[in-house]
Amino acid sequence: MRTVGTRRAIQKWARERRAAGQKIGFVPTMGALHEGHVSLIRAAKRRTDAVAVSIFVNPLQFGPNEDLSRYPRSAAEDIRLCRAEGVDAVFLPSVQELYPAKFQTTVRVEELTKRYEGKVRPGHFDGVTTVVAKLFHLIDPDRAFFGQKDYQQVVVVKQMVDDLDLPIEVVVCPTVREPDGLALSSRNRFLSAPERKAAAVLFGALMSARRLLESGECSAKKGRDAMIRSVSREPLARLDYAAVVDPETLQVMDRVKGRAVLLLGLWIGKTRLIDSMVVTCP
Ligand code: PAJ
Repeated sequence: MRTVGTRRAIQKWARERRAAGQKIGFVPTMGALHEGHVSLIRAAKRRTDAVAVSIFVNPLQFGPNEDLSRYPRSAAEDIRLCRAEGVDAVFLPSVQELYPAKFQTTVRVEELTKRYEGKVRPGHFDGVTTVVAKLFHLIDPDRAFFGQKDYQQVVVVKQMVDDLDLPIEVVVCPTVREPDGLALSSRNRFLSAPERKAAAVLFGALMSARRLLESGECSAKKGRDAMIRSVSREPLARLDYAAVVDPETLQVMDRVKGRAVLLLGLWIGKTRLIDSMVVTCP
């Protein structure tokens, strides 16, 4: 496995793989790797010939009052895990390397970023699309792998790929969960024991809306209300948003017919968690 820190070195690695006729898979991450990330790496291993993982806590996607400085970092462990999973290259750049002092370009997807995470975290998706666009250009993968948990992120990245005519297939992988349903997240380690218990409310709320909508209740409002009710019963949780949206446009739905996506963002104490679920209504 190659571990590289410069743009030039990862570009060279990717060019060599491509020249050797290999399909390149890419898994962008912010490190503190867990089974959710591992599931993306395994999907990439199955579906491409050479797999690159980037580990970069991207300052551009954190707001001024967010958790950039306390975001968990565990590079040595992450590298060991990548090696064990058969990753071919780990790209671990410094902030200076990706954003030299003269850096001044932003990649922005306009409409899809105005609601939900984009509204609660202004500028967040500009940071995501800017860094992902850079990483895509450096590595030029055939396929890039993202988790469904961050549903809005996937839709925004797909839009960027489309708008910028990038020849990359975005592969969406299912959310990996703890036994009580909590989606794995690097931020889960911030939760105290009672908070960790309370965090099961995300999955519980999504499931209550799902049961309702899949049993033939077509009112998106009733689905949303079910999520809000579940969250309000958990004293440690504070809701940011709950929504039932169209899977492609992320527009709020009125009547649900066919597929819809449930989006949920909330605080447990000082930790912000998000989750999502695709539902199919009869
Ligand atoms: P990060 O939060 O590290 O997540 C990296 C990838 O892992 C994302 O595609 C995310 O959706 C996926 N992931 C996280 N938890 C998961 C779970 N429980 N099951 C399945 N997949 C999961 O998302 C980012 O980093 C950044 O925004 C990034 C895209 C790297 C840009 O900086």
